[in-house]
Amino acid sequence: MNPETCRGCHPNHYREWKSSMHAYAAEDPIFLAMNARGQREAKLGKFCINCHAPMAVREGATTDGLNMAQVPQQLHGVTCYFCHNVTAVHGDNNNPLELADDTTMRGGIKDPKRSSAHGVGYSKLHDSGELDSSQLCGSCHDIVTPSHVNLERTFAEWRNSLYSHAGAAAVSCGNCHMESRDGLAAYDAEVSVPTRKVHLHLFAGIDTARTTFPDQDVQRAAVACQLRASVLLALCPAPDGTFQVSIETLAGHAFPSGAAQDRRLWLDFVAYDASDKVLYQSGVVPASEVVGKPLGTAGYDPNLKVFHDTLYDLRGNETLMFWEAASSAAHPDGYASVLLPQAKTKVLSEHTVQLPTFSVPQLPARVRVQMHVQPVAREVLDSLVQSGDLDASIVGKLETLTPTGTIVEWQASDGYSQCISQALPDDLDCPNDYLCKLYPELTQCAQR
Ligand code: HEC
Ligand code: HEC
Ligand code: HEC
Ligand code: HEC
Ligand code: HEC
Repeated sequence: MNPETCRGCHPNHYREWKSSMHAYAAEDPIFLAMNARGQREAKLGKFCINCHAPMAVREGATTDGLNMAQVPQQLHGVTCYFCHNVTAVHGDNNNPLELADDTTMRGGIKDPKRSSAHGVGYSKLHDSGELDSSQLCGSCHDIVTPSHVNLERTFAEWRNSLYSHAGAAAVSCGNCHMESRDGLAAYDAEVSVPTRKVHLHLFAGIDTARTTFPDQDVQRAAVACQLRASVLLALCPAPDGTFQVSIETLAGHAFPSGAAQDRRLWLDFVAYDASDKVLYQSGVVPASEVVGKPLGTAGYDPNLKVFHDTLYDLRGNETLMFWEAASSAAHPDGYASVLLPQAKTKVLSEHTVQLPTFSVPQLPARVRVQMHVQPVAREVLDSLVQSGDLDASIVGKLETLTPTGTIVEWQASDGYSQCISQALPDDLDCPNDYLCKLYPELTQCAQR
């Protein structure tokens, strides 16, 4: 069960996983703080830790995740053994995975060589070429809270997208999150193995470690590449100085997804005159401030649309802590969503979101629109610090990610007759930006 025992023969898989959020899931200070507060306020038992360190629960090493410092390191996080011992999925959420509890490692290789270390077996649940493999990922990436709120819905969103239908458009979670390349699946002195498609185990999304953790630069570069591919922006100018901005997600689910109650996604819009003086701006939020001030308060920005989930408690009041989310007359689901919807059809306009029209007081010389994402909103971190559960130094590590690929710019010389689409930037070389940090020996890395 110890990932260290896999390292000798699977050094690449080990190294990639070791920097991933799956390895960080029970180290993350925000997780530890939130779980501690949740246990105090709502006695959540194994609810949280059953996904963040599933082997620790199955081995009886914890019942609530409060003793992680004493739990052997090999049981922390979503481990190799946990994923590779799965034989069945009994539901759509809350980690309903069944493990064989044996020493056979299941994977997507159809004709694996037998090693002396473990049995091998092909499994559709592990083959990203099969849509069934999304069940293994998705049933843990979908949370229904003890108060029956379907709080995180990545799997449901994917199933409700065009990617979940068999055929040309079919794309599994692994297809987008476990990129493949030619390589060796194992380095075993006793067994000779052929070159195969191997799958990257970085599992890049939005989050990166906020404390010292292996290969943080690799994980950051992988997140930057993943985010570059996350949206398409378009900017449509009109001769009266009004601008329409539209945004569409390219993810296989809504965006943000999963912990969307903690995330914030927004666009800023800045119009300049010929001498580069700002004529008008919206969505420019200093790092120290909350994104999206409420109506009627100082700094309220009518054009700023912040994409995220808002949680409501039993009385219908807003809350930030997810065990408080509950159905009320005003909010039967326990949450309200403003997200970029997943593609349900190939008709782009059906899932494109229009922002409120921007009106620039005089005709600008240049306009620039850019996407920003916060993995965890400032107010969530502040609340955890106030309750005494999170060290204030972690708040300073809050990052607003501003992916270079998600900019669209218009200049007066472009005229008013057509919309401008986001151009892919030259300064990002994906996936080599992160692959070459891991494997400088790859041929495509030699010239870099
Ligand atoms: C002594 C070397 C050795 C050790 C230790 C080892 N493996 Fe393997 N593993 C292999 C070999 C050899 C293969 C076959 C590779 C091939 O056929 O290309 C393999 C294949 C696999 C496969 C692919 C199975 C399939 O059908 O797709 C998985 C998954 C796997 N190992 C996981 C693990 C995990 C998890 C650990 C640690 C708990 C581990 N291995 C430890 C040598 C080892
Ligand atoms: C045992 C439950 C479990 C399973 C199974 C699982 N995950 Fe995860 N995953 C997690 C947890 C927990 C985190 C978040 C860790 C953290 O940030 O604290 C996570 C994080 C991630 C992230 C990073 C999210 C971010 O915001 O940065 C991605 C991407 C991801 N998983 C993809 C997958 C894929 C693809 C699979 C299937 C091959 C999968 N997961 C299977 C529990 C699971
Ligand atoms: C979140 C689940 C998950 C975790 C954690 C995980 N793997 Fe995998 N792994 C997969 C999936 C899914 C595949 C198969 C992808 C495919 O074939 O499309 C895979 C494939 C493999 C393979 C076969 C070769 C390849 O790249 O396809 C090996 C070997 C392997 N993993 C080893 C490991 C080791 C070692 C660890 C821990 C250090 C680990 N895995 C952690 C899900 C996971
Ligand atoms: C068509 C490609 C695609 C498919 C299919 C896909 N994803 Fe994603 N995923 C993305 C992109 C793009 C992002 C956004 C960029 C980022 O997070 O860096 C993303 C983001 C995420 C995140 C980060 C959370 C967030 O707020 O966006 C998680 C977790 C995740 N995906 C898990 C999954 C799981 C689980 C599945 C399968 C049920 C899946 N993804 C299917 C492309 C895909
Ligand atoms: C069904 C499995 C599951 C359960 C139950 C679960 N989590 Fe998670 N958690 C995840 C997954 C998957 C992610 C990654 C989702 C994403 O990135 O969108 C995650 C991400 C997180 C994160 C990091 C993302 C962020 O920035 O917010 C924190 C913190 C967290 N969970 C706390 C908790 C707490 C506290 C509980 C219990 C009250 C809990 N989780 C229960 C699966 C689970």
